[in-house]
Amino acid sequence: MSISGFSKFSKEKKVDWLIKNHFNGNIDAKKILKSYWNEDKKLQQLHDEFTENCISNFYMPFGIAPNFLINNKFFTIPMAIEESSVVAAASNAAKFWMSRGGFKTHVRSITKVGHIHFLFKGNKDELIKFYESIKSDLIKTLSPLTNNMKSRGGGIQEIKLVNCCEKMNYYYQIEVNFNTCDAMGANFINSCLEKIAYELKKIANEKYPMISKNLEIIMSILSNYVPNCIVHVEVSCPVNDLNFESGLDGREFAEKFVQAVKIAEVDTSRAVTHNKGIMNGVDSVVIATGNDFRAIEAGVHAYASKDGNYTSLSHAQIKNKNFKFWMDLPLALGTVGGLTSLHPMVKLALDLLDNPSAEMLMEIVAAAGLAQNFAAVKSLTTTGIQKGHMKMHLLNILNNLQANQNEKDKLINHFKSNIVSHSEVVKALTKLRKND
Ligand code: MEV
Repeated sequence: MSISGFSKFSKEKKVDWLIKNHFNGNIDAKKILKSYWNEDKKLQQLHDEFTENCISNFYMPFGIAPNFLINNKFFTIPMAIEESSVVAAASNAAKFWMSRGGFKTHVRSITKVGHIHFLFKGNKDELIKFYESIKSDLIKTLSPLTNNMKSRGGGIQEIKLVNCCEKMNYYYQIEVNFNTCDAMGANFINSCLEKIAYELKKIANEKYPMISKNLEIIMSILSNYVPNCIVHVEVSCPVNDLNFESGLDGREFAEKFVQAVKIAEVDTSRAVTHNKGIMNGVDSVVIATGNDFRAIEAGVHAYASKDGNYTSLSHAQIKNKNFKFWMDLPLALGTVGGLTSLHPMVKLALDLLDNPSAEMLMEIVAAAGLAQNFAAVKSLTTTGIQKGHMKMHLLNILNNLQANQNEKDKLINHFKSNIVSHSEVVKALTKLRKND
């Protein structure tokens, strides 16, 4: 079914078109879409204007994980995520580490990067000469764009010509490093890059015909690979302090845990799932604080393969009877600009975190990621994850089976001492309904 001019339709007309052409006129589908419209018209309009062809809202649960002790300060972390057990796991890990020194974090570097990708079919040395002679003019023309960022302590850190001809014939880049302060900075970076590309071509056209005729600008764009925008996070404690009701003593648990992390270091299959557990924590805070989780995901997984093999982002060791668990994570985040002052829930989430700087948010997000990873590997190496996971998933199953509140209360109680599985819940609910 094709249509033209769809984006110009009113919202009502878009919904009507959809129902007629994709749902056989089924009015229930319309009811569902409309039931998610916000009664507050202004708020709804805000959402409608976030994206093209918006016909409804798509909710995510907004949970909070208290007791996060990060660099000796307590945080209650907002997490937007649909997976049942993630907030519970983060909260458990936060509580576990709260009494063992908490999370220690620091930002190693905050450089973001972008490129003008171009082809040059002329003499390489001529290109270098040309670039060196115009470099300072290029930077000068950026002043109107960079002055504001400069006054906040940021701006362009470095700009250089990179020869990439070994990767592809005639391929060069102008690589630009940025400090975007508390902004994620995508628009700032891309505007600077496009301006540089424009000026480069203009100067070449006007004054350097031999360069101009051999130069083809392909594109100008930031990179979501940010290996120089890194936060470090760790937890540590004496192995003897790792005793909890797991059936293992502190040393046994620590050794098994370290072994599990080593498996993720050497086996790609396990590394992907291990890192997915980290991203459960990372993404949920990134989304709650209005940041771009696709950019974070892309950058993190590229970083996990930076040495040629995809491997674990986190590492663990026992040294001098001390257990340490840590990771370095590339996180290009912002706490100003974008959705941060626009989306009321994002504003609230940032308020909850005491309106952190971008660097502080990097530390909080990394702590949430490590907490999640710790909780997952702790469960995997002791009870297995299904026990906790299915307990949290129980309500989803009950809702799916349309259990009423009374049935839910009874079955939640029943499954406190019984193993949860879909078939066991169906059985228990059927029995309950027969007896009532
Ligand atoms: C599930 O969302 C995440 C885990 O699979 C992570 C892991 O295996 O480490 C439990």
